[in-house]
Amino acid sequence: WPSGAHREDGVLVIGKVPVTELAREFGTPVFAFDEADFRARARDFQASFDGMDVFYAGKSFLSSHVVRWLDEDGLGLDVCSGGELALALRSGFPAKRIAFHGNNKSYAELQAAVDAGVGRVVVDSMVEISRLDEIAAAAGKVQSVLVRVTVGVEAHTHEFIATAHEDQKFGFSLANGQAVEAVREVVDAPSLQLVGLHSHIGSQIFDTSGFEVAAHRVVELAAQIRDEYGVEVDELDLGGGMGISYVSDDDPPVAKDLASSLREIVERECAAVGLRVPRISVEPGRAISGPPAVTVYEVGTVKPVQVDRGAGRLYVSVDGGMSDNIRTALYDAEYTCVLASRESAAQPVPARIVGKHCESGDIVVRDLWLPGDVQPGDLLAVAATGAYCRAMASNYNLLGRPPVVGVRDGACTVMVRRETIDDLLALDAGLAQQSDETK
Ligand code: LLP
Repeated sequence: WPSGAHREDGVLVIGKVPVTELAREFGTPVFAFDEADFRARARDFQASFDGMDVFYAGKSFLSSHVVRWLDEDGLGLDVCSGGELALALRSGFPAKRIAFHGNNKSYAELQAAVDAGVGRVVVDSMVEISRLDEIAAAAGKVQSVLVRVTVGVEAHTHEFIATAHEDQKFGFSLANGQAVEAVREVVDAPSLQLVGLHSHIGSQIFDTSGFEVAAHRVVELAAQIRDEYGVEVDELDLGGGMGISYVSDDDPPVAKDLASSLREIVERECAAVGLRVPRISVEPGRAISGPPAVTVYEVGTVKPVQVDRGAGRLYVSVDGGMSDNIRTALYDAEYTCVLASRESAAQPVPARIVGKHCESGDIVVRDLWLPGDVQPGDLLAVAATGAYCRAMASNYNLLGRPPVVGVRDGACTVMVRRETIDDLLALDAGLAQQSDETK
C-alpha cells in the first residue's frame, strides 16, 4: 500500500483522501496516486545511488506531472517511443537528461530525438546505428549513444519480462561477438559518439546476483573495447528491473543493496583491468511508480460459484478489469485487494476479483479472502497498480481508460483524465463522416 495509506472508520484513506470521496468525485475505476510516496521513492533511489545516475523508466507510468517531479528531483528519464519522448519534451523535461530506448525506433522517432538533442540514444541494432548516424550527420550533430548488450543472464522472472538471455529481441549478444561489432560500428560512425554500454536483464528481480554478473560482463567488454579500439567508455547503464512486493508491505531493499554491490563490482573489476571507473546508471520504473498507486473499483455483481465438491468461491465483478490491469492475465501477476469503503465483521470467504470484459481470463486478483458480505456498491482497492497498469491499459470492449488522480495532503489533482465514450467514438471515421454530413 502507498506509504500515505491508512484506515479511518473502515474507509481506506490515501494521501489524506478517503477513497469514497475519490470515487464520488471521479467515478470508478480510478487510479489513486500517492504523490508523496512516488517522490520519496524517486529520492530514495537518488540517495542510494549517490554519485550515479538514476533514469526513471517512463514506460511504467508517465504523465506531465510525473515528468515535472522527476525534473525537480534531478532524475533522468528513459523513454522508449516517440510518444513518450514527446510527452517528456512537452512537459519541459531537459532533453539532455533523456535516454531513448527501443529495438525498433523509427526513422521519425530517431529524427525527433536528434532534433531535440536527447542526451543518449541506446542503440539496439546495426540498422539503427547507420540510420542514426545518417540522421545526426544530416542535422550536423554528433549523437551520444550507448550500445545495448545482451549479457546472457537468465533472470529469474517471468519469461515475458526477462531480457538478457540469448534468443530474444533485445540487444547485441556478447556471446557471438555482435556487441563488439556494434561498438566498432559506432566508433567508426562519424556522427555518433560512443558514451557507454547498457544492459537490462529483465524485470521484477529480487536477487542482486543477475545485476552483478551483468556488471562484470560489461566491464569485461569495456576492457576489450579499450584494448581493441583505444576507446574508454564513460558510462555503464545496468538497466532497471528492481522488484517490488505486490502482496505485502515489506518491500525488498533491492535498491540499497544493489547500489553498493554494483559500485563495488565495477570499481574492483575496473581496477583489475586498469580501466578508469565509468559512471554507473540505473533505470528503475516499477520500484518507483508501482507501490504509490492503488486502483479503486466498484463492485457490480457478486456470484457464488461452486469450485469443488461443496467448496465455493465468490466471484466479485468490478467495473474495470483486464483493460486497466492486464498483468494478471499476461504474467500471472499476483495482487492483493481490500474492501475499501467500509468495515465488515463478516467471516472472510475465498474470492476472486474479476473484471467486466467478455473473457474468462479477465481476472484482476486470482485468489484472496474477502468479507463474505461484500456486495454491489462496495469499493475495492487493489494495491501496487502504479506501474504497467494505466501504462498498458487498452480500450478492449470499448471501455474508456480510467483516470489517474494524484492525492496529497487531502488534495486531488487529475493527472490523466478519464477517457469518455465520446473520446473513443471520435476515432471512428464512419461516425465522424456521418456527423460531418448532418452539420
Ligand atoms: N530499462 C529498460 C531498458 C527496460 O526495458 C525496462 C522495462 C526498464 C528499464 C524498467 O524496468 P522496471 O524497473 O520497471 O522493471 N510490462 C511488464 C514489464 C516490462 C518491462 C519492460 N522494460 C510488467 O508489467 O511487469
